[in-house]
Amino acid sequence: MAFFEKNRAISWQSLQKSGILVSILSSKNIKNMTPTLTTLSEWDILQDHKKTISHQRMQDWFLDNPHRFEKFSLKFNELMLDYSKNYITGQTLSHLIALANAVHLPQKIEQLFTGGEVNSTEKRPALHTALRDRQQTSLLVGQTNVMPDIHATLDHMREFSDKIRNQTWRGATGKPIQDIVNIGIGGSHLGPLMTTRALSEFAMPELNCHFISNIDSAHIHEVLTLIDPETTLFIISSKSFSTLETITNAATIKAWLQTKLPTSNLEHHMVAITAAKEKAIAFGIPEQQIFNLWNWVGGRYSIWSAIGLPLAIMIGMDHFTNFLDGAYAMDQHFRHSEFAHNMPVIMALLDIWYSNFFDVKAHAIIPYSHALTYFRAHLQQLDMESNGKHVAHHGEALPYQTGAIIWGEQGCNGQHAFHQLFHQGQHIIPIDFILVGKSQHAFDQQHQDILVASGLSQAQALMCGKSFLDAKQELLQEGYSAEEADFLAKHKSVPGNRPSNILFLDQITPYNVGALIALYEHKTFVQGAIWNINSFDQWGVELGKQLLPYILADLRDTEIKSHHDASTQGLINHYRAIRKNS
Ligand code: F6P
Repeated sequence: MAFFEKNRAISWQSLQKSGILVSILSSKNIKNMTPTLTTLSEWDILQDHKKTISHQRMQDWFLDNPHRFEKFSLKFNELMLDYSKNYITGQTLSHLIALANAVHLPQKIEQLFTGGEVNSTEKRPALHTALRDRQQTSLLVGQTNVMPDIHATLDHMREFSDKIRNQTWRGATGKPIQDIVNIGIGGSHLGPLMTTRALSEFAMPELNCHFISNIDSAHIHEVLTLIDPETTLFIISSKSFSTLETITNAATIKAWLQTKLPTSNLEHHMVAITAAKEKAIAFGIPEQQIFNLWNWVGGRYSIWSAIGLPLAIMIGMDHFTNFLDGAYAMDQHFRHSEFAHNMPVIMALLDIWYSNFFDVKAHAIIPYSHALTYFRAHLQQLDMESNGKHVAHHGEALPYQTGAIIWGEQGCNGQHAFHQLFHQGQHIIPIDFILVGKSQHAFDQQHQDILVASGLSQAQALMCGKSFLDAKQELLQEGYSAEEADFLAKHKSVPGNRPSNILFLDQITPYNVGALIALYEHKTFVQGAIWNINSFDQWGVELGKQLLPYILADLRDTEIKSHHDASTQGLINHYRAIRKNS
């Protein structure tokens, strides 16, 4: 049974018929830009190719080619990608690579690494790769060499994290720091949260790390019950130092500290990481306790900068530099490997294939690793904030789908919750199963074996499925009548032919986690580059921020001053009534 029969990809033809295409193509902007994806012959070839393979089954391809696994798997250091259980042949890959070349992907990758203005709306580069290029001494942004500042910030992080760890940094009452609390949101939260959890086995046992991100005061209260103000360091993480949630939470914490400590001098308990130094100083953070950040680091790409300070404190700067080195190694692999052997490129092309030619809308991330609990959350921001876009670089409306819905859960939990839809539902959802070879605890081999077997059997079941005849046969053997077996087999058969990747890490280490995150960063970049969108801005988030002050005022003030749609107004009235009685 074929699962990709209908080509619902893009109604480009309908655009052509309506004449919209002609006007888009003849607009002045079309000159000197990446060719519109859907006008390329490589695009048409892929559409035709899809028709020829959409009635085929992956299982047959494995039977035809006993080396399919070797052909469609890659190994890079301690990371292996098996992408053989995808709806591809060798020809598919060649066609996809041709598409990537046709949109000048090699040049775009060079642009990224060399400080090109990849963030066109904000007119700046995205230089997260420079943050992990530890041997580099020179990289110009405009007239400024950014490398000395990067090295100086790493030195600052080392000096400070060492002081916390060796207890020479003391709280206001002379006690050593035991708890670190990161106050930040989005990229100033998810990267540190995900990595400190992932690498907790490398953390100093005497230290605990907590996170306050939500403006819901319950989040603050929860953390405050766990800490002692005399032994706690708060890190205010905000590139802009103006994010409402973060600044409100930081002000609340500052006021709380003032009531709890026998001194008004809070400088032993608060540091900041920001690109807006003057705002942090105005907030009351001493200048030498402000860690530099730069505009050319996107929030979702900032874990490699001083935003990684909670991680550096927890695991120590030597491990943190291993983490950077793992990402750097992935950068080199990405920058220099040919596309057919390039992990981020292959993963991106697979998603382009599903998204643009099979109308697939979602992508699931299922790590069979407790350490990677927050990896999916981090990827959600990375991918969805980067590639959830509706216009191309030059502002033209896109006639094709971009940005998948990223979701998931750690295995095995997801298996007992929503995998049913993967197996028998009607959506095709490509999945990345992330497996880890070595358990972090020596006594846990039995658990690890079950964990790995679970991930592998899910991927196998998705591909192989169970035919009606096999299901019926099983039922007959179990003693069901032919009539009952006929009925039940319809429910018990599993279609199969559903795609998944297996990413296999030998073990969880700072180096490997660094490489894993960088892999997905580059995958996201490649997709954006092929779609010709700006993966480094996030204007959609701004609208909500603009509306909020008017609604906030109308929730609080005696008079309603702004005009709202009827739904919002009704809800404001509802809240005001509750607020009045509380
Ligand atoms: O609102 C979205 C966003 O700008 C993210 O891109 C960013 O990671 C987050 O807010 C936090 O921003 P900041 O670090 O400036 O507080």
